[in-house]
Amino acid sequence: MALFRRTPTLLGIDLGSESIKAIEAVREKGRVRVIGFGKVELPSADARADALADLLKHCNFKSKRVATSVSGRSVIVRYLNMVNIPDENLKTAIRFEADRYIPFDLNEVVLDCHRIEDAPGVGANEMKLLLVAVKREIVDEQVRLMQGAGLQPELIDVDAFALGNAFALGGPTFDMAAGKVVALVDIGASKTVVDIVRGAESYFTREVYVGGNEITNAISKRFGIESFEGEQLKRQPASREQEIAEAVLPSIEDLGNEIQLSFDYYENQSDSKVEEVYVSGGGSRVPGLEETFERIFERKTLSWNPLEGFELDAGLDHQALLECVPALGVAAGLAARAGA
Ligand SMILES: Nc1ncnc2c1ncn2[C@@H]1O[C@H](COP(=O)(O)OP(=O)(O)OP(=O)(O)O)[C@@H](O)[C@H]1O
Ligand SMILES: [Mg+2]
Repeated sequence: MALFRRTPTLLGIDLGSESIKAIEAVREKGRVRVIGFGKVELPSADARADALADLLKHCNFKSKRVATSVSGRSVIVRYLNMVNIPDENLKTAIRFEADRYIPFDLNEVVLDCHRIEDAPGVGANEMKLLLVAVKREIVDEQVRLMQGAGLQPELIDVDAFALGNAFALGGPTFDMAAGKVVALVDIGASKTVVDIVRGAESYFTREVYVGGNEITNAISKRFGIESFEGEQLKRQPASREQEIAEAVLPSIEDLGNEIQLSFDYYENQSDSKVEEVYVSGGGSRVPGLEETFERIFERKTLSWNPLEGFELDAGLDHQALLECVPALGVAAGLAARAGA
């Protein structure tokens, strides 16, 4: 009797600093299909509620159930090598561990943990544990924002893990990376997320607080124009691609060097190598970025399409989707939790 079965539909909402992105997905027979999407730019950070209301009004999503994600300095992620303990003792053990590793009052955070399977550099009788602590006020704020928009918050993830989840859904890039430790690098407006993964497991993550805003600033400075004009020029370089590539080169190099530090750190403490790099995020769309990164990282560096593991509903506006697809990694990974 299927009449009353709930459709496993979920709305993934990425509350970025420049724009809110939403993807609605449904899981059917193990496949995840995108049935709706939308993006709205934020005039300012305190305009989130209005922008979200606007987005929902225009998109007519079917689902009220929503997954969101957190990021930034109020989110602490730690990877701990510790004595292997059974699952039933984990909850007690992590409160003790968290006290040592989390720089916040434990009464003010929401804690979660996950056992990482088959991580490199983990000895016998040891396990690798992923510990996440998020300031409670950030979680409460998101819940209020969603409820205020008439939505029903179902889960809250971390940007980096949502990105990893979109990757792990499969597709040509995931297949190409099979069995290898690779890095996902998502460049937003205000920050860049680095997630070092193998398959569906995250082995290391870090946020670098540099992104597309920095690149726009470099363009505006170089050409002596206002930042909104720099933004326009970056998005529509027309015949000035070469000039722009030159103007942004130092910023891209700085970002690349900063990311390289994360690779070095991970490689030193795990004794395994980051083999390839997959770049996404709205901020990655500047001429010359992949080539510069590849030169700095000295490993294969490619852009990937975060929706490549999804089926796309025939009714979608494919042209509009294509226009914003690089920035949809987090929203896609959140929506992919539909029915999971
Ligand atoms: N067509 C384009 N060409 C070049 N850059 C673009 C284009 N469209 C968007 N961007 C840049 O992408 C960035 C926004 O990307 P994204 O939507 O991933 O960020 P966000 O999620 O809002 O920010 P954050 O993750 O830092 O909070 C901006 O810096 C913007 O300038
Ligand atoms: Mg973002």
